[in-house]
Amino acid sequence: MAFVTCDDTVGTGVESLDREHRQLAALINAIHAGLFTDASDERLEQAFVVLADFASLHFRHEEELFRQTRYPAAADHMRHHAELKAQLSILEAALLDRKGPLIELAEKLGFLSEWLMEHVEKDDKAFGDYAKQAGIR
Ligand SMILES: [Fe+2]
Ligand SMILES: [Fe+2]
Repeated sequence: MAFVTCDDTVGTGVESLDREHRQLAALINAIHAGLFTDASDERLEQAFVVLADFASLHFRHEEELFRQTRYPAAADHMRHHAELKAQLSILEAALLDRKGPLIELAEKLGFLSEWLMEHVEKDDKAFGDYAKQAGIR
């Protein structure tokens, strides 16, 4: 069973964003699976770099849409993106150190995933509703 899912129930209604959210969930799942198999440190590191890069790309994409649509709540939303990026960096350090029991790393990953999916359900959904009115699909 997937560690984290991002299905239509948390859709924003903006197709390109929903696709990226599903991709983020898939990347998190791959890292989670890697933690519980004997994936090499190098592989885990690569997977994490892919996740961090993709998350940055995704946040930039959303923020570009904020500009295009003159989204009034952009400042708060962008602050949440910055916080999520900071959490990704903290998690990256913990993962790459592999300090502490595996279960703690998995818990940290779970915490970040929940935070990210909550952001999708609340902030991104609110933007999706606004963006659809602005003609973004
Ligand atoms: Fe998003
Ligand atoms: Fe967002």
